[in-house]
Amino acid sequence: MSDQPRVTMEKLTALCKSRGFVFPGSEIYGGLANSWDYGPLGALLKNNIKQAWWKRFVEGRLDMVGIDAALIMNPKVWEASGHIGGFTDPLVECKGCHERYRADQMDVTKPCQKCGKSGLFTEAAAFNLMMKTWLGPKEDASAVAYFRPETAQAMFVDFPQVVTSNRQRVPFGIAQVGKAFRNEITPGNFIFRTREFEQMEIEYFIHPDSWKESFEMWLKEMHDWMAFCGIDAARIHDLEIPDGERAHYSKRTVDIEFDYPFGREELYGLAYRGDFDLNAHQSASGKDLRYTDPKTNEKYLPHVIEPSFGVDRTVLAVLLSCYHEEEAPTSEDGKTETRVVMKIPAAIAPIKVAVLPLSKKDELSSVARALASSLTKRFAVDYDETQSIGRRYRRQDEIGTPLCVTVDFDSLTDKMVTVRDRDTMKQERVAIEGLEGYLEKRLV
Ligand code: GAP
Repeated sequence: MSDQPRVTMEKLTALCKSRGFVFPGSEIYGGLANSWDYGPLGALLKNNIKQAWWKRFVEGRLDMVGIDAALIMNPKVWEASGHIGGFTDPLVECKGCHERYRADQMDVTKPCQKCGKSGLFTEAAAFNLMMKTWLGPKEDASAVAYFRPETAQAMFVDFPQVVTSNRQRVPFGIAQVGKAFRNEITPGNFIFRTREFEQMEIEYFIHPDSWKESFEMWLKEMHDWMAFCGIDAARIHDLEIPDGERAHYSKRTVDIEFDYPFGREELYGLAYRGDFDLNAHQSASGKDLRYTDPKTNEKYLPHVIEPSFGVDRTVLAVLLSCYHEEEAPTSEDGKTETRVVMKIPAAIAPIKVAVLPLSKKDELSSVARALASSLTKRFAVDYDETQSIGRRYRRQDEIGTPLCVTVDFDSLTDKMVTVRDRDTMKQERVAIEGLEGYLEKRLV
């Protein structure tokens, strides 16, 4: 994958819009800055990623359970976790045009990017990223609540209930997938940094003695997951966060970075959080959150390894990694054209199979339609009878459909169809009777 010229953000966002992966939100009203909607294909891709993650890390492991907690939690959670006091970014404002920037992402000695004036920035001030709201009809201090800035805290707060209700034994993990909100000063770069996004997080509770092995195990799991998603290994880099730069409670943090077209930036994070969070919630709530080892009777606060995955950044890294341009023959006359093909792994591809009748004629389309509708019971299927077959193949290549099934006039008599492979473009004749089993083998 790495020898390919890399797709630019301009090309990728144009394809995402034209094919319905991701487009600007509220567009008929002029949009809302940095708000994006996942269209039909994007929603399928994103859901496939979340479901595969859940299957792999929750249902696929005996040492994991999942929760689905309320998005708005008691504000005391965020006081105890340190978010209300300290979840801030340094904000500076241009005194000329009032544009706001994150001081740690710019050089205040250089001119303002918006108005071009220099030396006119305010002192950096801590800006809290929590999204505030009010619960109920009164907008006063007693009704203030926050949209969660991470899914993680519910796993700490619900820890005792999960231990007692599910009889979990350390080491075990609690996972959650869902929305998080941050009032980012500088959202941008498409779906990379937004104010509303999704996370897939695990809090893995361990005995303090075993943190090193657990950390290594999760680092490997995260890399295996990225390979499963088709994220280009040549663009992935582990950044060991040095002493002094980590959060004060963390003994080790690795940021997994990805080479985006706009630079090397974080994709995922893996942190050893010690017992910081359980300790903070134990002190603030006055509830005993210790775990008792059933074999040794040792009573202790488990330590935590936290693998944290951004859903939207996964979608972006998958699309950037899987986008390919290749020279492909147009017809028998030997001419070639550039074919855009999204080599998304079949397991997460939005559409698994496209059913394409060679012509719109009724006798073909009725057979093809019936075939497509029977295949939808097992796979995500697209049915397309417009334009030439070559153009339809190109469209399916662009949206990453692994297999196309073409129904032609011979199909009416020999009861066979042609199956075309997205990556190799090889075609094979397959009996309609055994088609579902054949597709199953190729796709699952
Ligand atoms: N519980 C730990 C935590 O939330 P984080 O590094 O702040 O750590 C974890 O966030 C992941 O969430 C990031 O690695 C990234 O994938 C995703 N993420 C964070 N902020 C985001 C934003 N504004 N837009 C999109 N994704 C974001």
